[in-house]
Amino acid sequence: RTKKLEVRAFTEEQEALVLKSWNSMKKNAAELGLKVFLRVFEIAPSAKKLFSFLRDSDVPLEQNPKLKAHAMTVFVMTCESAVQLHKVGKPSVRESNLKDLGTTHFQYNVVAEHFEVVKFALLEIIKEAVPEMWSPEMKSAWGEAYDQLAAAIKSEMKPQV
Ligand code: HEM
Repeated sequence: RTKKLEVRAFTEEQEALVLKSWNSMKKNAAELGLKVFLRVFEIAPSAKKLFSFLRDSDVPLEQNPKLKAHAMTVFVMTCESAVQLHKVGKPSVRESNLKDLGTTHFQYNVVAEHFEVVKFALLEIIKEAVPEMWSPEMKSAWGEAYDQLAAAIKSEMKPQV
């Protein structure tokens, strides 16, 4: 059963806040994304076990190319989600991709709490990356973009039939 997604308004101002900070972070997105997941593993060390490529690897965390790629994806997709939320009122992920994302996260035993920890770490790292721009409004704009993307993925988290 697919949970119905709640659609909340995402304003032009919120989109602008995300884009402004994203423009200044973009060039470091890979490094910042990685920082997000290193923070996640500080808070929730057991989350490392979810990732097959971390379980099967002797490469140090911070040098693992697949961890970097996932971290970067989360960051970039959250930003794209913000832009799409304002333009079309829902996150950017195409329907087919969303199903795959839901299935993958379901299969790898990702649960709601993991999405919360990633959100917390993401907001912390953005705050540290752009302290001069950071504000409660910026925090809630990124938070909302992430929440709606996460909700879209979670709504597709079920076994593949
Ligand atoms: C895989 C994106 C949140 C853990 C993936 C993939 C993408 C992705 C694109 C690869 C897709 C595939 O193979 O089908 C995202 C986005 C997120 C998010 C956009 C949030 C908005 C999370 C969270 C966790 C997580 C919160 C857990 C802490 C994983 C794991 C895999 C995965 C374990 C499979 C990795 C493997 O191959 O071992 N994610 N993800 N993701 N994601 Fe996420």
